[in-house]
Amino acid sequence: MRDVQWPVCNPFPPPEAVMRVLVGGGTGFVGRTLTSLLKSNGHEVTIISRNPGPGRITWQELPSKGLPPCDAAVNLAGENIMNPLRRWTEEFKKEVTNSRVDTTQILARAIARAEKPPEAWVLVTGVSFYAPSETVEYDEDSAGGNYDFASRLVTAMEAAARIPGDSAAAGVTRGVMVRAGFVLGRDGGAIPSMLLPFRLGLGGPIGSGCQNLPWIHVADLAGIIAHVLESKNVTGVLNGVAPSFNTNRDFARALGAALRRPTILPLPAFMVNAIFGSERGVMLLEGAKVRPRRTLESGYRYAFPELGPALRDILS
Ligand SMILES: NC(=O)c1ccc[n+]([C@@H]2O[C@H](COP(=O)([O-])OP(=O)(O)OC[C@H]3O[C@@H](n4cnc5c(N)ncnc54)[C@H](OP(=O)(O)O)[C@@H]3O)[C@@H](O)[C@H]2O)c1
Repeated sequence: MRDVQWPVCNPFPPPEAVMRVLVGGGTGFVGRTLTSLLKSNGHEVTIISRNPGPGRITWQELPSKGLPPCDAAVNLAGENIMNPLRRWTEEFKKEVTNSRVDTTQILARAIARAEKPPEAWVLVTGVSFYAPSETVEYDEDSAGGNYDFASRLVTAMEAAARIPGDSAAAGVTRGVMVRAGFVLGRDGGAIPSMLLPFRLGLGGPIGSGCQNLPWIHVADLAGIIAHVLESKNVTGVLNGVAPSFNTNRDFARALGAALRRPTILPLPAFMVNAIFGSERGVMLLEGAKVRPRRTLESGYRYAFPELGPALRDILS
């Protein structure tokens, strides 16, 4: 992975208090950027993974050994829902759900049982919570979570994160849900698989191209999580999206411009559905206009609020 240059992406001065942060799924795309940012801010990170290793504990160890001493916990674990190599079967859907809900529940239960519960507990979910619309604007207070598979998955994850009211952690541990949009970065998410067709001049909008595409640079998603951990007063839901609204067509044009390639060939909806299955294809063919109102009110300053500079940074 290339080095992350935090002076550009992290507008916050390192805090004085060092935190011990537990990061579920810290080996992944977002987790690697978050871990790098937290360490560069002087914090200590322990990763929770399916596989043991230095600086890690496993999910199997948590229920038996309990929560290791920590000041904050974050969960990013989950089977990659958009993996085009996996067919959209009932078995894969179960894997996608269980990998998120079970890990979240294991961590929430360990927090609830901890003698010294952490000060903060952050779960990353998705903006698929909000029903797709080309016109309705959503913010963190908008209703949702019961529209389709992906929105119900967010509801199930957020329910699994709840700390029981009669536990030691109730009233001690601050809970935050970050609902992320499409995460853009060089080392994961959708961009790496799009580069080849776009470089060959075969890229273009997906479906009609008019669908909204809520997105965020991976450095800003990591930045929002670090900001939440360090601010000590943020609670509840924050939308992890950039403050600018873009459609899928805007995205194709901006990616083509950053690569200096034409983007005239659309990817038809029937092909998307053939590759991903219609229940998953909808995540690419439809989208919601999501505003990060509470994220901005919390004082977070984006390093990449606009799409063009975000893509140029990723491709530089
Ligand atoms: N990437 C995006 O565009 C995007 C958009 C919206 C929301 N999100 C959410 O943000 C979180 C982090 O995203 P990401 O892109 O960083 O995820 P990722 O890289 O695909 O996966 C994160 C980690 O999850 C663990 N994992 C994978 N499959 C698992 C399974 N079957 N059971 C248990 N753990 C499993 C892996 O850690 P180990 O191998 O170490 O166990 C992996 O490194 C995810 O929950 C995702 O839903 C991502």
